[in-house]
Amino acid sequence: MSLPAGRYVSVAKVGEIPDGGVKVVRLGDQDLAIYHVDGGYYAIDDICTHDGGELASGVLEGTVVECPRHGARFDVRTGAVLSLPAVAPVMSYDLRLKDGEIQVAWAAAGTAPVISGAASTPGAASSVAPGAAPGPHVAPATAPVPTGATGAPSQQELAIRSALETVMDPEINLSVIDLGLIREVQIQPQLTHIRMMLTTPFCPYAPQMIADVKAATQSVVPQECEVEIMPDPWSPELMPDPGLLGYTF
Ligand code: FES
Repeated sequence: MSLPAGRYVSVAKVGEIPDGGVKVVRLGDQDLAIYHVDGGYYAIDDICTHDGGELASGVLEGTVVECPRHGARFDVRTGAVLSLPAVAPVMSYDLRLKDGEIQVAWAAAGTAPVISGAASTPGAASSVAPGAAPGPHVAPATAPVPTGATGAPSQQELAIRSALETVMDPEINLSVIDLGLIREVQIQPQLTHIRMMLTTPFCPYAPQMIADVKAATQSVVPQECEVEIMPDPWSPELMPDPGLLGYTF
């Protein structure tokens, strides 16, 4: 997740943060961790979405930082969460290099940066060769969270799926997952968008099922959840296992 590019503020000088290192800066009332990895610079919130751990104090391996409190892992390039117990990504920010300075796109207009600490190299192994020169570009920190981009479901998708396995269609007494009613889950910055079918048009249980889907999703990915009801007709063929209804296809 990333903020839209806004005003750029300088947070460090190029060369100040060693490759494989991190510097914490305070913008407004927020701490940001500025990482220098593989020649690219990346900025994410310095606060774990699980329970507030300071990520800059965690071990950095390549582009992955491990929270020092309970071990959740995040990709510093995008803020994507890679392992439990955290389930939500951390905010990432766009960066640029200008006049020998690293600048963060900061949406809070008028916010003056207050530098709160020297650059350091995190605790254990970084896979980045020490002394490597920064590249001529800043790696894009605005790339969307690559949810499922590799073909494998993300931790968040798996968490949502198992939460939705508890949401039942009261008419049929099967879950919305078993019925194949959940057709798409998009985890966007600050919004989870779910496209869902109903087994019958004007299903009298629809309002309750929508509320239950939202509540279950938000129990594992705590951000706004929007449920879109698709007009398409449902059929048992859409079920992962139509045999649950006694059909054979
Ligand atoms: S506070 Fe980061 S994993 Fe718990």
